[in-house]
Amino acid sequence: MLFRASGPFPENQSRIISALYERAQCAFAKPRSRSTAITNKQVKPAGDDGAADAPQPPRRQRLSSQDRFIDWFQSVTPYIHAFRGKIFVIAFGGDLVSDGRFYDLTHDLNLLAALGVQLVLVHGSRPQIEARLLERRHDSRFHKGLRVTDDAALAAAKEASGRLRVEIEAWLSMGLPNSPMAGADIRVASGNFITAKPLGVLDGVDYMHTGEVRKVHANAMRKRLSDNELVLLSPLGYSPTGEVFNLALEDVAASAAIALGAEKLIFMMDTPGVAGRRGELQRELTVKQAKSLIARSGQAETDVQFYLPWAVRACDQGVKRVHLISGHIDDSLLLELFTHKGVGTLVTPDPIQTLRTAKPDDIGGILQLIEPLEAEGILVKRNRGLLESEINRFVVLEHDGIVIACAALYPFPDEHAGELAGLAVHPDFRSQGAGERLLSEIEARARRMKLKRLFVLTTRAEHWFVERGFTEVDIEELPAPKRALYNWQRRSVVLVKRI
Ligand SMILES: CC(C)(COP(=O)(O)OP(=O)(O)OC[C@H]1O[C@@H](n2cnc3c(N)ncnc32)[C@H](O)[C@@H]1OP(=O)(O)O)[C@@H](O)C(=O)NCCC(=O)NCCS
Repeated sequence: MLFRASGPFPENQSRIISALYERAQCAFAKPRSRSTAITNKQVKPAGDDGAADAPQPPRRQRLSSQDRFIDWFQSVTPYIHAFRGKIFVIAFGGDLVSDGRFYDLTHDLNLLAALGVQLVLVHGSRPQIEARLLERRHDSRFHKGLRVTDDAALAAAKEASGRLRVEIEAWLSMGLPNSPMAGADIRVASGNFITAKPLGVLDGVDYMHTGEVRKVHANAMRKRLSDNELVLLSPLGYSPTGEVFNLALEDVAASAAIALGAEKLIFMMDTPGVAGRRGELQRELTVKQAKSLIARSGQAETDVQFYLPWAVRACDQGVKRVHLISGHIDDSLLLELFTHKGVGTLVTPDPIQTLRTAKPDDIGGILQLIEPLEAEGILVKRNRGLLESEINRFVVLEHDGIVIACAALYPFPDEHAGELAGLAVHPDFRSQGAGERLLSEIEARARRMKLKRLFVLTTRAEHWFVERGFTEVDIEELPAPKRALYNWQRRSVVLVKRI
């Protein structure tokens, strides 16, 4: 086992984390370099060119599996911190249970529970209801994608939900040794948490026992969650008159997420996410973009029409993140939650990326970005101490709370010049304009400081800068203090842009 159980984690948790690591391997195309493998001295000055006596960057060493594990583990720690104690509402169709995929999902749920995530599951039951009605030779009726629930359909819905609940509870009770569920202790709470009202008559169609959510008993659910129980909701609701209503899975999940102020609402669908005009996966959508997509998508009964309106409603009413992912991709839940890129569509109230001045809390994130580039000799090494003293010179681009790009501006006011240094974009986010955004921001800051020239020293990105208005100049053009520190071994190209 890669992870040592004798560390700060209990044995069960370390086993779970090892399992997560093994499954997350596929999310990384290549291992990243290991910072502790670097042994060279620190170079003094700012910038990506070191002093004349600065050591050469070390050759990249082959990484051991332990190094890769530590690298990976460090990369997921921000998520672990961010998720602990938060409520995630996860909705999935009844087919996930009937075709056995729920077995794999239980491992992921166990892992999330072990990391302190408070889980609310909402199951669908459409295929199970269909099967029962078929057995009884009773036709199903739908209008605008919603079942018209007559007496026979309601009886089938009750039977299906009862059975599904028992099966889900059984899966979640697993705990065989040497399995991902070893040591799991998931208590499941279900009950009358949802009050419903009839949907009534729409377009002249009487929906009969089909209802909509009227109230979510959020406090009762919160009590269960804070007792470390997992709450399981069926797509059924009860009225004060004692009637039972068949509800849409999306309505129950979104209403519960809104009432609980959930951190995340996750829909596990049949498709990989929301498709754009050319069928490409839309990885991120703001509510505004989602609304225009809904308006364009017409009446077609697609996942977009089913789930996206509920995602928008949830975001509009306080849910921070709604994820639309495939229930058919192995480990899609973990890949969506623990990798930068995710595997589906993330809907957020506001744009997910923010550009801002770095603060001391960002040092860990900046180091994770620049250390692999330092190991390759692309950037000059900065240690934590240097970064701490210079942190206000850095600008970071944050994506969903994680630093994905950074750059720094070092002014030389006497010479009306500034140096752009430490420009780095996480490999997963390259070629999406992040570098350009940072450059514009650094230029704007330099202008505000009344600097006239921005220069950069680079070994590998000359063309990138030239295409953005920089021209190569002689080392003599550098501000005097910088010229004195020019590292002749690195032989960086000096580029300047008038701003
Ligand atoms: C250079 C870097 C900052 C660009 O960031 P980015 O967010 O990918 O850049 P943008 O999205 O704004 O621009 C992408 C374009 O630049 C091109 N590009 C990326 N790196 C390049 C390089 N080293 N040389 C030339 N062009 C490059 C891409 O191919 C793409 O071109 P295209 O749109 O024609 O396909 C990023 O690749 C990086 O972090 N590289 C490693 C660190 C580095 O070299 N930093 C500079 C040290 S001073």
